[in-house]
Amino acid sequence: MKRIAVFDAKKYDEASFKPYLDKYTFTYFKDRLSNHTVALAKDFDAVMCFVNDELNDEVLTKLNEYGIHGVFLRCAGYNNVDLASAYKNKIHVARVPAYSPYAIAEHAFALLLSLNRHIHKAYIRSRDFNFNLEGLSGFDLHEKTIGVVGTGKIGRVFIDIAKGFGMHVICYDPYPIKDSGYEYVPLEEMYARSDIISLHCPLTDANRHMINEDAINQMKKGVVIINTSRGGLIDSKALLEGLKEKKIGAVGLDVYEEEANLFYKDNSLKIVNDDTLSLLLQLPNVIITSHQAYLTNEALSNIAETTVKNLDEYFSGAFINNELCYHCEKSKDPQACYRAKTKRCF
Ligand code: NAI
Repeated sequence: MKRIAVFDAKKYDEASFKPYLDKYTFTYFKDRLSNHTVALAKDFDAVMCFVNDELNDEVLTKLNEYGIHGVFLRCAGYNNVDLASAYKNKIHVARVPAYSPYAIAEHAFALLLSLNRHIHKAYIRSRDFNFNLEGLSGFDLHEKTIGVVGTGKIGRVFIDIAKGFGMHVICYDPYPIKDSGYEYVPLEEMYARSDIISLHCPLTDANRHMINEDAINQMKKGVVIINTSRGGLIDSKALLEGLKEKKIGAVGLDVYEEEANLFYKDNSLKIVNDDTLSLLLQLPNVIITSHQAYLTNEALSNIAETTVKNLDEYFSGAFINNELCYHCEKSKDPQACYRAKTKRCF
């Protein structure tokens, strides 16, 4: 039976892969895959990774040395993979492109509703028998303008929910969907018009820190910013300044640019050396969750099912439907796809 090293594994991952023990032997490592832990992968046939595993040149080169040529991401985003190095080392990388856009879109809305109606504060007050309502006013979402950055699978579910609340939706996406009926606007216009902005796009070199001081200056006073995509989309220091200056009304983050060494772990007994995060967490109008937007039963079981399908395709020599393709990523031209002609990128 093929042996799979599963990195950054949690109890709920073990539970979701249980139905597939007749096909593969999974060995679970709590540690993230990195330069320091890559030696653990020796003697395995493939590795399974998550959002904060470091698939950099050093790690991919080591995997190649160990004869490992399959990396299976239990997630959609792949900004943590050095694709050029994967190609150089002839390592196939497959992901789970969709497992539940509802899970993430619903969590984004949970953050928005909690912030706007101060649920996080009301919960603590009530537990203390403090039933004072001072400072807990919110605003109607109805008729407010919400800017959605990225109209992919998650963005579209988010838009449906927003429309259910009677909101005006405006969108930005470099690849707009034709005949969708969505109102696409340039980013500058979105910043100027939106009462709420929610990010649903991938992180790339081009859009790293797209929400920076300049972008925040263009926004409405009191804007609510929600980020369930990737932390690197926001310059956290500029975000903190915007909050301190009361330009930004509230912030809901499920992702944080320096999350890799903190999220998914209990750091409560440690001195966390991140002043920006510490200050953000102290503000009453900020809610931070630990990259958990995807965490529903449905999503976990879909992730396991698709990952096992990716493994099956890889080991059987078939076309790997969810393989990341270095050439296609570079050219954006489906005709340039080697896989379409030869089944595999290499
Ligand atoms: P998708 O691939 O279906 O859609 C992404 C959309 O973003 C596409 O329409 C694309 O054209 C657009 N886009 C690309 N570059 C852009 C840019 N610079 N500005 C605006 N739009 C841009 O992806 P999906 O499934 O909707 O996921 C979106 C993101 O959500 C992922 O890339 C990932 O970072 C994040 N995510 C977060 C999770 C969490 O648990 N917090 C779980 C799953 C995904």
